[in-house]
Amino acid sequence: MKIGLFYSFHAKKTAQTAKRIQEHFSSEELEPVNAETVTPEQFMSFNALILGVPTWFDGELPNYWDEFVPALEDLNLTGKKVAIYGAGDQKGYPENFVDGLGIMAQLIEQQGGTLVGFTSCEGYTYESSKAERGHQFCGLALDYENQASKNKQRIADWCDQLRSEFK
Ligand SMILES: Cc1cc2nc3c(=O)[nH]c(=O)nc-3n(C[C@H](O)[C@H](O)[C@H](O)COP(=O)(O)O)c2cc1C
Repeated sequence: MKIGLFYSFHAKKTAQTAKRIQEHFSSEELEPVNAETVTPEQFMSFNALILGVPTWFDGELPNYWDEFVPALEDLNLTGKKVAIYGAGDQKGYPENFVDGLGIMAQLIEQQGGTLVGFTSCEGYTYESSKAERGHQFCGLALDYENQASKNKQRIADWCDQLRSEFK
């Protein structure tokens, strides 16, 4: 199954994460797509998708994802497995930590998609997050500002998890 890796090619941390994710898959397995110019056709051409969604503007999606939302709301994502990673800042924005991840997750489910790649909330300190589902985040939460040293392992573990969950 070919995986589409959607992220902004001009984002900083999100693109850095994408490069790391690419190290865990071959180019036959994973195809990068620029989220800034993504079309519904590109989105629908994969049955397994990884979305890079950082949080901006006090708990909002970045502009490039926000602009895709109207098109996304017209798609039927039944049968698609979607994993989302999101960079945030738990000290700077403790009330909105990785909210963008949660906003995108809700949209994906609303359109019939199946979320994979949930991870534990343990090891993070924040007040609230839209990405929280019980004791898990509905994707991978990364914090380059405060926990940069943990990212490499978190990404590696998540890619291992996705390998089995995308099957
Ligand atoms: C203006 C601004 C607003 C932000 N708002 C949030 C936020 O609400 N929640 C959060 O977790 N992180 C927030 N962040 C932190 C970013 O999500 C974090 O720096 C992330 O790594 C950015 O990823 P990118 O460089 O790939 O866009 C904000 C950062 C800035 C500069």
